[in-house]
Amino acid sequence: MTSRQHLASWKHLKQLAVLNKNKHMNDLFAADDQRFSKFSIKLPSMLLDYSKNLIDQEVIDTLITLANQCELPQWRDSMFNGEKINKTEQRAVLHSALRGSVKTPLIVEGIDVGEQVQQQLNKMEIFVNKVRQGQWLGYSGKRITDVVNIGVGGSNLGPQMVTEALQNYSDDSINVHYVSNVDGTQIANVLKPLDPQKVLFIVSSKTFTTTETITNARTAINWLTSASFDDKAIAKHFVAVTAKPENATKMGIDSDNIFTMWDWVGGRFSLWSTIGLAIAISLGFDQFKALLSGAKAMDEHFKNAPLDKNMPVIMALLSVWNTTFLGAKSQAILPYDQTLHMLTAYLQQAEMESNGKSVTWHGDTIDYATVPTIWGQLGIDGQHAFYQYLHQSNNIVPADFIGSVQSVTPVKDHHQTLMANFFAQTQALMTGVNEEQVREDLKAKGRTEEYINMVAPHKVHKGNRPTNTLLLDRIDASTLGQLIALYEHKIFVQGIILGICSFDQWGVELGKGLAHKINLELDTDSISANHDCSTTNLLRYFKNIEKK
Ligand code: F6P
Repeated sequence: MTSRQHLASWKHLKQLAVLNKNKHMNDLFAADDQRFSKFSIKLPSMLLDYSKNLIDQEVIDTLITLANQCELPQWRDSMFNGEKINKTEQRAVLHSALRGSVKTPLIVEGIDVGEQVQQQLNKMEIFVNKVRQGQWLGYSGKRITDVVNIGVGGSNLGPQMVTEALQNYSDDSINVHYVSNVDGTQIANVLKPLDPQKVLFIVSSKTFTTTETITNARTAINWLTSASFDDKAIAKHFVAVTAKPENATKMGIDSDNIFTMWDWVGGRFSLWSTIGLAIAISLGFDQFKALLSGAKAMDEHFKNAPLDKNMPVIMALLSVWNTTFLGAKSQAILPYDQTLHMLTAYLQQAEMESNGKSVTWHGDTIDYATVPTIWGQLGIDGQHAFYQYLHQSNNIVPADFIGSVQSVTPVKDHHQTLMANFFAQTQALMTGVNEEQVREDLKAKGRTEEYINMVAPHKVHKGNRPTNTLLLDRIDASTLGQLIALYEHKIFVQGIILGICSFDQWGVELGKGLAHKINLELDTDSISANHDCSTTNLLRYFKNIEKK
């Protein structure tokens, strides 16, 4: 595959980047009072304003040409048609099938995908209702009050992020907890207040080989069986979600208690599958279905809207523009809604595990910048932590601001105050304030010339910092489903434009393999001579500490 750099649109974008770097968004707004309507997209319950980017119509048109030259529409069809676009793992990429967005029947490797999905949804619904209605009982006949989801990465972040985001829609009949860390502190603290007679564990692992999850699951089994004095209790208290049921039964989990997922669902895109079991138990099955419907609505938009009116496409192209062409190194995700407090962590995995790569589909070295570092946290807390950097550092950090028109928990004037900050920040990041304005302001306040000379340079904000604003009507299961699917498709489009296979994650394997070997060594008294001297000495230090 020839580098993307040979495409005519790519070359054109490089020239446009040089030109646009010298422009200020203030001037672009002053010259065009239609800028908002040109550079925004409205969906039934969501608005994207991307006018506060360093773009003009020519940039957008050229980015769209680039998308076409990269054959984005064809790749999109291939994904929805179940072709094996995850080339290095030889798998289809069908998380959209989990929300009913593929043709029926869709046969992958002789299996009707839609039928399999429906079977598991039915099994989930029956189980969820039994647990929530108190018909699923623990070993001593008591109803389940607490569910502990044991999983990591995609088997944790998605379900936990959604459960927390939609907590206000829960009837609180069941408390759901999440354990992901192999650090025993987490599981010890989660289990401490719980009654083994009333706890249900969901062991969520696509592969059922992930060390963290297996270690935590074994600890949970020991905790239960030492309280119940009966291995049969496991069948009442453990269910598994996996694509490898044989591994779950080996651990002692009853085969009737296994919910299936499939190779064609990537871990970081799996919350729509049986991996979402904890979400459905926490919120009820209707809420889970509403989440799926929201995602389906975004799938339809992504499939059908023209590229220049297509939210995921535009967001992906802007990310490529800001990063690859304008040189941004990172991107902030800044939700202004408490319910979305885990969204940044979730999107870190989704985007960085998908596109944090440096070779093309064909294994050629990539000779251009790819995806930025994703970081951030709740915007309002960020304002009092790192926004100084966003406003005045030498690094330009494009940011997605995500807020809602209505609060799910209106408390007096809180939401208005929150959103005043939301709007003020994107405006300030764009407009900035120049030295002349600073000086005038200080003069008007009666400051001395000497003071003004000293402080003025420190108060200058160059502005011109790109932001996207996403405004949701309110956070509910449907809008959240749309929002997550929006980013999923954005990540897919980014991968296509950058020529990356977004659906494997070989980069996490090396460390996993070494950890396994080192773990075996830590069981013995000797340290292998094969390590570098840094690792050898760290291991020696650790073992000596341990012996004390
Ligand atoms: O971090 C690597 C990874 O493979 C992720 O892609 C995945 O979400 C996570 O580990 C958990 O994997 P599993 O569900 O197989 O336990």
